Amino acid sequence: MTTEAHDIVDLIRTKRDKGLLTTSQIDWMIDAYTRGYVEDSQMSAMAMAILLNGMERREIRDLTLAMIASGETMSFDGLGKTTVDKHSTGGVGDKITLPLMPLVASFGVAVPQLSGRGLGHTGGTLDKLESIPGWRAEITNEEMFAQLRDVGGVICAAGGGLAPADKKLYALRDTTGTVEAIPLIASSIMSKKIAEGTQALVLDVKFGSGAFMQDIALSRELAQTMVDLGNDAGVRTSALLTDMHRPLGLAIGNANEVRESVEVLAGGGPADIIELTLALAREMLTQAGHPDADVEGALASGRAMDTWRAVIRAQGGDPDAALPVARETHTVYADASGVLLEQLALPFGIAAWRLGAGRARASDPVQHAAGIDLHVKAGEAVTAGQPLFTLSADEPARFERALEALDGAYAIGPAAEYTARGPLVAERIG
Ligand code: URA
Repeated sequence: MTTEAHDIVDLIRTKRDKGLLTTSQIDWMIDAYTRGYVEDSQMSAMAMAILLNGMERREIRDLTLAMIASGETMSFDGLGKTTVDKHSTGGVGDKITLPLMPLVASFGVAVPQLSGRGLGHTGGTLDKLESIPGWRAEITNEEMFAQLRDVGGVICAAGGGLAPADKKLYALRDTTGTVEAIPLIASSIMSKKIAEGTQALVLDVKFGSGAFMQDIALSRELAQTMVDLGNDAGVRTSALLTDMHRPLGLAIGNANEVRESVEVLAGGGPADIIELTLALAREMLTQAGHPDADVEGALASGRAMDTWRAVIRAQGGDPDAALPVARETHTVYADASGVLLEQLALPFGIAAWRLGAGRARASDPVQHAAGIDLHVKAGEAVTAGQPLFTLSADEPARFERALEALDGAYAIGPAAEYTARGPLVAERIG
């Protein structure tokens, strides 16, 4: 005879028939799934029922809290500084964490960036930083605390102890077509962020061809759901909805994205990367109680660069070391004169992934020097024969499959046919 509090089949039927799950049912389900009593097959039926029928705000909060309760929670109380973190839903060329973390930390707030490795076409912050010789992502909780106190910023791998239920459920969703459910995405992201113990959080929720959610209305719903979850849990949370239709910046890969981030910290770099870095820095510093911080000044004066160098050194990296360079390159040239009408993020992300910048399975290595450098951005004039972009890889055999991904991803035509996108930061929610 079972001593279990609920029957998972009853819960699946309830959600299948558009009913509501109680707090007790959700707590039990997540606990029973974590300890293996509820099987993967049953949890995937539940995930599909949630994807099809949704959850209301109270259910999503219960699910998030149950996933937090499945593991350890961290606390930065005692640090003597306000903690503020940023999470991006991921995009192509999205290296913003790299210049943003030191910029915000240079104002005396603590920025604990628990980050991941990339899977599929969106890159991972840890993969990018691991192209710096000596830099290590795995640090202890004590080292993290000391670094936040002494230097102000840290970017490191999240320990496996935070929200283990999410880890198991996310892997299951990945193989059952149930990733794209707003209650599941929101509870997955927010359970880890709340368990991490940050006091404030800014979410960069992307929309457009290179984003998780192509449609701005769905991104808005995801952002609002996560903002509510954070604020309900006592974390000051806001979100920016940002356009991910075209790649961010000129570099897509790992080492080349670090290079571009350092350019931004040195006062240069592409306009879109600077714009988004400054917008997110202002939002984070406002949440951390510094609404009037002169973020442009901190970039221009080199103060943010000093913090970057200190953070890289503190994690064993050499900020002056040469970054890896690929053995082979292949440049694509304009076949006509006109304006670059389009440059779609998703195919460029897939091409960089095929060059070796990303991984297909969590255990695959990445090639740090592989990637794409754009020479022209959409909307700019080009002349026939001018270089459009350069692919880099260690094995030339990878170029063909990368070029296949780019078929139809860009076009040159008359200026009159160019459609400008709306603002990069489309909306603020919070
Ligand atoms: N990132 C996460 O951590 N979880 C999701 O469900 C989606 C993106």
